[in-house]
Amino acid sequence: MCGIVGYIGNKSVVDILVNGLSQLEYRGYDSAGVAVQTSSKIKVYKAEGKLENLSSVLMQHKSEFADSTMGIGHIRWATHGAPNVINAHPHTCNCGNLVIVHNGIIENYKELKVKLEAKGAKFRSQTDTEAVAHLIAYKYEETKDLTEAVRLATQELDGAYALCVMHNNEKNKLIATKRNAPLLVGVGEDEYYVASDVPAIIPYTKKAMYLNDNQIVELSRSEMKLFNSNGEPIPQKVEILPWEPVALSKMGYKHFMLKEIHEQPDVIRNILVGKLHSADSQITLDEVKLDKQTLKDLNRIQIIACGTSLHAAMIGKYIIENFCGIAVDVEASSEYIYRKTVTDKHTLVIGVSQSGETADTLTAIKQAKARGSHILIITNRPDSAMAREADSLVPVNAGIEVSVAATKSYIAQLVSFYLLALYMAEIKGSLDESVLKSLKSELTLVPQKIEQILSHKEDIQKCAQHYANTKDFIYVARGINFPTALEGALKLKEISYINATGYPAGELKHGPIAMLDESMPVLSILMKGSVYEKLLSNSEEAKARNARMIALTNSTSEKLKELFEFIIEVPDIQELLSPLIAMVPLQLIAYYIAEYLGKDVDQPRNLAKSVTVE
Ligand code: AGP
Repeated sequence: MCGIVGYIGNKSVVDILVNGLSQLEYRGYDSAGVAVQTSSKIKVYKAEGKLENLSSVLMQHKSEFADSTMGIGHIRWATHGAPNVINAHPHTCNCGNLVIVHNGIIENYKELKVKLEAKGAKFRSQTDTEAVAHLIAYKYEETKDLTEAVRLATQELDGAYALCVMHNNEKNKLIATKRNAPLLVGVGEDEYYVASDVPAIIPYTKKAMYLNDNQIVELSRSEMKLFNSNGEPIPQKVEILPWEPVALSKMGYKHFMLKEIHEQPDVIRNILVGKLHSADSQITLDEVKLDKQTLKDLNRIQIIACGTSLHAAMIGKYIIENFCGIAVDVEASSEYIYRKTVTDKHTLVIGVSQSGETADTLTAIKQAKARGSHILIITNRPDSAMAREADSLVPVNAGIEVSVAATKSYIAQLVSFYLLALYMAEIKGSLDESVLKSLKSELTLVPQKIEQILSHKEDIQKCAQHYANTKDFIYVARGINFPTALEGALKLKEISYINATGYPAGELKHGPIAMLDESMPVLSILMKGSVYEKLLSNSEEAKARNARMIALTNSTSEKLKELFEFIIEVPDIQELLSPLIAMVPLQLIAYYIAEYLGKDVDQPRNLAKSVTVE
């Protein structure tokens, strides 16, 4: 969480910092701030809340930084201390000469604070970051060398950080470093950009260098120097970023979320190209680096993920077990990392993450890697920290996802799981030829089926508006679509703040049914197949308790009209592929309810897209 930016060059810095922060708002929006080197001294501007508040502050002080060409900026997701101006970054030392921005958590900040206060430091905020500002300032007093001061200070830090630092005495120097938090340096002509993530720099340059943990970069207008943790110069690896700035526009949609929902058919087509050639030929998945014999012998897989990626993982489990007969465990990364997990070199561990930066999942895969497991990463960010840990890297290629609520990355993760499961099934010979063929052939039809759904989205909008004022919402499903129910509920919760829950329909009668009355909407994900009749009975049971019944179905049975007050019809599809279709109307329901209620769809309260703290 939190995003940091920095710039040193010859352009007007404030616009670059604010533009960069606007591209990083998905990482938090509790407060924002910048520090700029002016002709006299460094000046700091901060505001509580969204970036637009900082922009208003900056407007009032425009004349103070008209010529400034060096600065740092921050967008905050509060961890230590309330989201207010005092706790907003940049933070300074007592004399105000040193300023820093920080993404991460300093775990030993309390101990550091005691030591620094004993030396005379006066803390003004409740943040962990301020301890780092004082610490570097003391090291600078001793060394008179900002790079060295940062190096020495970071050796005393426990936890995670990406830092960008400036000092009044160093008018042509910007220092950045990181450990367990993302950071990259964009390289221009006599200018450098620092950012937590690509979108902040891609409008300016495609040349960039990713920092590794404990490396320190020293930037001046003419030069970049890179050092290891011993302070020794090391070679720089500048690469060309595979991103286009155009991906970040709303392209006429009211919100990024709606745009990203509409991108899903093309995202799927994109993934299938080069991997699924035809129903008769074998899946190509060169990204999987396990040899065929090892795959054949594999009898245990663990999948670890958080949030929406966890729901994709649950469907991954269902299809891998079904197609390949391999036992799969799925666990939330935040649970996996704090227990004695049984993982070894015979276990394939799959990490799933849109961002590739989620701290819990990153820690989990590092733990599994240390125990000798082969690590397969399914991510939308092939340039992420998780990708760098991967033995096998399966990029989902959904394109940059801006909306905090994940949509297209979820569908892309599902498609990647289908390809992986089919690929393994072909190697193991665990599925009938005819079944394989029909799955592959219908997978290629999914994009147009989703387009069909999107073409009548107004019906879904009507349904959403009808239920928009409810306090609670229940989603039920069985079998392969139980995770769809969980994901539908998560989407609604996170953007509309309605108390939504997904249940396996068979569990209703074991407790949740007590909550049902005429005020409770219950949405049944009623896809044809092995559990259709069972789910229909569960829906009858809910109806008998007067719940407001909604069906999401590919059945055209007239009987459904007696049971459900709203029916959302989706194109027909075989059960094993149905999660790819069923999720789309649920994304739209969540979107239209939140939009109707006037919520901040793309940046819901309290959330951040990239959760880089445990
Ligand atoms: C998705 O809508 C959520 N915002 C959130 O649950 C997310 O899926 C979770 O934080 C995991 O993120 P990752 O996929 O980037 O690891």
